[in-house]
Amino acid sequence: MKEVDLVIRGARVVSVDQIIEASVAIAGEHIVAVGHDDTMPPAREEMRADGLFLLPGAIDSHVHFRDPGYPNKETWKTGSAAAAMGGVTTVFEMPNTNPATGTVEALRLKQKAAESSYCDFGIHGLLGDDTVERLEELLDAGVTSFKAFVGNTFGNLPAPTDGALLEGFEKLAPLGIRTVVHAENSSILQRRQQKMKAAGRIDAMAHLAARPAVAEIEAIGRVLTLAEWTGARVHIAHHSAADSLFLLREAKRRGVDVTAETCPQYLLLNTSHMLKLGGVMRLNPPIREARHNQPLWDALLDGTLDMIATDHAPHTPEEKTRESIWDCDCGFPGVETQMPLMLTEVNRERATLMDYVRWSAVNPARAWGLYGTKGVIAPGAHADIAIVDMQRAGTLSQNRLQSISKISPWNGRAVKGYPLHTLLRGRFVMREGKLVSDAVGWGRTVKGVQKMPTPKPRNTEHYSSAILQTPAGVPATAVPVGAVDWSAA
Ligand code: NCD
Ligand code: ZN
Repeated sequence: MKEVDLVIRGARVVSVDQIIEASVAIAGEHIVAVGHDDTMPPAREEMRADGLFLLPGAIDSHVHFRDPGYPNKETWKTGSAAAAMGGVTTVFEMPNTNPATGTVEALRLKQKAAESSYCDFGIHGLLGDDTVERLEELLDAGVTSFKAFVGNTFGNLPAPTDGALLEGFEKLAPLGIRTVVHAENSSILQRRQQKMKAAGRIDAMAHLAARPAVAEIEAIGRVLTLAEWTGARVHIAHHSAADSLFLLREAKRRGVDVTAETCPQYLLLNTSHMLKLGGVMRLNPPIREARHNQPLWDALLDGTLDMIATDHAPHTPEEKTRESIWDCDCGFPGVETQMPLMLTEVNRERATLMDYVRWSAVNPARAWGLYGTKGVIAPGAHADIAIVDMQRAGTLSQNRLQSISKISPWNGRAVKGYPLHTLLRGRFVMREGKLVSDAVGWGRTVKGVQKMPTPKPRNTEHYSSAILQTPAGVPATAVPVGAVDWSAA
């Protein structure tokens, strides 16, 4: 047998429906064998992983690495280092940088910044009124997918009008490209925020009051209507409210190609934490009352929600701790803490490791057309692996984060279950809990690896592109009123 680069022996390999004891052989960037110890080829390096679990590297559909524009908050190097340390091997990065990723020039700046990435990545381009004419150009230049900021958030990008959103979906549906939506109704939350400010409210709870669940319900409903009509694929970002889950259930039942993520903060935190932590917890959509936590778990378990993302949204400690809640930037880091937080819940038996792998790797891989290449430990797939110790206990500490944003609502939280090593395409990017610093730049785009299923556009005869043509038999110009002879009537 031909010598391979690495054989990992004695671990348990986790997939969506089983956990098996197996060894894994890796040659170059790929897994070449998964099976009994005796069947493994000779290897340049052998690694024992007795008692450990091999999980497909996590795929995080929602991170903000801030570069270009806000290198004081994060860079690709620091953000992707955080991913590597958290067992995350692929991220999809958001367009609310400065400049926003809505032009090819801006995309080029981002691609340049991403050359220092420790993890593989997709780039969500911006879908807005100003970019709707450029979507194909952006796809050709390298974006993997799009994001529409239907709800106002950090970066203050104007929400697309419904007309532009519909037209964007009409353009993307035939291409099978999925659009991420920040689903909150901007008009509701901006009006409310103004009122709360005018009334002198500066406390953390005022942020929640300004962004009620109905803003999420309305926006998800609107987006799903447009997605169903056009046949466009959509992805609901950071689903936060129990009250809007029924819309996802109904849309999925009707065959809409919608995927949805929630984040550890919506599953595990609520207003009781907000009262203690204040501005640190300010994010969009807001962390809500405790009654939302369990229904979101249930929705993950029954498949209404598809995946865990983090909305890794770093800001500096100074930007997060100002006196008025309105002056605290929205969001906090999360890509590094997601896995230990969720594994802790697995240890508490709130879900199985197979459930976790479905949410962290399998379903995101499917949503973005990566399944088979990523999201699974099987021959032929990229060797993207998180090697996990479910017994290792510790305390999360914001000072130890790789992120520049050393401020986190998870600071001091006890966890059990950690990634010990992270492999990206056969190469260690984290080993023995330490970043492998010379793996900087090993990450590359997943554009080109993606294989989306056949698109299913609908109602194409009503698309803007179709109605712009004058149908046969109808005069190309309207008849002037003065030209009509009324005397015959
Ligand atoms: C995000 C950020 O800081 O970029 N903030 C947030 O509160 N979630 C933007 C976003 O995803 O809405
Ligand atoms: Zn968002």
